[in-house]
Amino acid sequence: MRRELDDGYELDDDPRRVDVGAVHAFISGESYWGRGRPRELVERAVEGSARVVGLYRSGEQMGFARAISDGTIMAYLADVYVLEGHRGRGLGVELVRFMLECDPPWNVRWLLHTADAQRLYEKLGFIEAQTIYTLMERASPVAS
Ligand SMILES: CC(C)(COP(=O)(O)OP(=O)(O)OC[C@H]1O[C@@H](n2cnc3c(N)ncnc32)[C@H](O)[C@@H]1OP(=O)(O)O)[C@@H](O)C(=O)NCCC(=O)NCCS
Repeated sequence: MRRELDDGYELDDDPRRVDVGAVHAFISGESYWGRGRPRELVERAVEGSARVVGLYRSGEQMGFARAISDGTIMAYLADVYVLEGHRGRGLGVELVRFMLECDPPWNVRWLLHTADAQRLYEKLGFIEAQTIYTLMERASPVAS
């Protein structure tokens, strides 16, 4: 699936197009959640994701998102970013929208963690979870 956006931006879910070096540079060097993540883990995470979406312009990776999912019941949205300098013009919303509107559709429950981008996800139907359950986590011994 591909979608052309204004100003030469393009969304594509082809995992072969992902510039792993660029995604690794952002996740390991700039993200607040995956600092220092080794390149090999980024590569394997791309390969092991149910769906990845890249934001491109002139063939360059400008943003990325990936989904971990069974495609049926549940999906977890991770590693969402748009490069600084390209933010604040709606590309983040379009990146996530494209992820959510896959064809054939996944009628799944989406989950994610965010420190401060709630507004972006609220625009696409996410709400802050009001649950009686406690979110529990088990840390990876090798990666954040
Ligand atoms: C979060 C991110 C992907 C948003 O990309 P973007 O292209 O700037 O997003 P948009 O222009 O589509 O913004 C959509 C809405 O979300 C809000 N928003 C975006 N990023 C936000 C942030 N970090 N904090 C608070 N609100 C944010 C915007 O204000 C906008 O709402 P508005 O139209 O009511 O003003 C981008 O800022 C980014 O890559 N940040 C660093 C990595 C990161 O935090 N990723 C998200 C992890 S959950």
